[in-house]
Amino acid sequence: MIGDTVNRAASACCLRYDLFTALQGPRMSDASAINRVIAAEIPALSRCLSELGKSLVFPEGIPFQAAQAKRVSINATIGQLTDGRGGALPLEPLRKRLQTEPKRTWLYAPVAGPESLRNAWRDHQRKLAGQPDAACSLPFTTHGLTHAIDLIAGLVADDELDILLATPAWENYGLVFRLRGGGRMVRYNFFDDTGTRFNIDGLAQALRGVRKKAVVVLNFPNNPTGYVPTVEERAAIVTLLNEQQKPAIVLCDDAYQGWVYADRPKTSLFWDFLANHNAEHLFPVKVDGATKEMVFFSSRVGFVTHTATGAGEAALLSKLKCQTRGSVGCPPGPSMALMEAGLADPGLKPAFEERLGQMARRQKLLYDCLQAEAGPALVPFPFHGAFFALVKVVDAEAVRQRLLEHYDTGVIAFQSASAVRVAFCSLNEETIPEVAKRLGAAAREVAALQ
Ligand SMILES: Cc1ncc(COP(=O)(O)O)c(C=O)c1O
Repeated sequence: MIGDTVNRAASACCLRYDLFTALQGPRMSDASAINRVIAAEIPALSRCLSELGKSLVFPEGIPFQAAQAKRVSINATIGQLTDGRGGALPLEPLRKRLQTEPKRTWLYAPVAGPESLRNAWRDHQRKLAGQPDAACSLPFTTHGLTHAIDLIAGLVADDELDILLATPAWENYGLVFRLRGGGRMVRYNFFDDTGTRFNIDGLAQALRGVRKKAVVVLNFPNNPTGYVPTVEERAAIVTLLNEQQKPAIVLCDDAYQGWVYADRPKTSLFWDFLANHNAEHLFPVKVDGATKEMVFFSSRVGFVTHTATGAGEAALLSKLKCQTRGSVGCPPGPSMALMEAGLADPGLKPAFEERLGQMARRQKLLYDCLQAEAGPALVPFPFHGAFFALVKVVDAEAVRQRLLEHYDTGVIAFQSASAVRVAFCSLNEETIPEVAKRLGAAAREVAALQ
């Protein structure tokens, strides 16, 4: 029923395309139809939408009209050079360097990404989760995970939004939300008082303080701590979020999915929420991509997957496409062609596992070396995943500066957590003991100066 409403709205839009639309952008009436669908199908998201989020609707411009012309035999819609039969005409010095399928590599992709890649990514993610039939949306392709987070922020960020973020966290969340219309950052300590467990009570307290609506960022395996929660911690997080009453987006940032070196759950928390969430209050969203999961840092290919299907998914798709079309445009062909070929290759799993083994050896070595340096001036937090170890020191910035100036070594300072982050993903096994030694020395020297 509601799906029909969206479809009818879409075809009516198409017939009513006129100069006004081209010049003025989408008509509010179209957005209103979409908002009604979202209110019925994704109530938690509907309650979180900002004024900008409410106004978003995919315009009936070139990608819209070109997609409609796909079924006709003569297609003079889109501004890309082809052989007149839909084939690419790349320049030879570029073409000869890439063995991927020319059409996928060199021509424009749909704004949401090619259906085949979106399906392949969903299959891949479901397989990783051990839930081949899980009912979730088709992943929406983005320009890396940063853009995926940006799209969510674009839907909901305004002065009434509270963004629940652990301290420390990946620094860029703050910037993304600030550029998208703000919101209030509500911080809680990542670790509890023992410094060994995820701070469930801190999250609970932050949730109690939510004013109207929230985005709750959950990033596991975590950057910058490298922490991976236990089965019990995951269950407690899901229960906690389901018990609170304010509308909230649960943003599962799965950038480091799969990079786990201990006997802890490897799957995304998104799947736990998918199976168990109160749709009136919660809208679980999964953000992931090729960046770390396929060791393809330059790809600029990420995805937004969520729990809405059918009409709700179609309505939200319009808002996601609208934002992408109006900012970065359609996603990058060469990266997506490489990814799609990789996902279809049976060699992908063993290749990832080889890298995982390599990283596990680095993690174990760094863990042992940091334990040897541990003392009042240097306290390593537990780390079981992602690419990082976080170490508590007396003055993080002073330790970072000392390492740069006296020890020819670079780390990242998280001053708010009084800790430094060591990215062992970019250290080889020969260097790791030396890095731990230098860090220990710098941390002790800084502590002695205090
Ligand atoms: C936790 C987390 N989320 C998102 C990103 C952004 O990934 P991308 O480079 O694909 O934008 C990063 C990158 O370091 C990250 O650490």
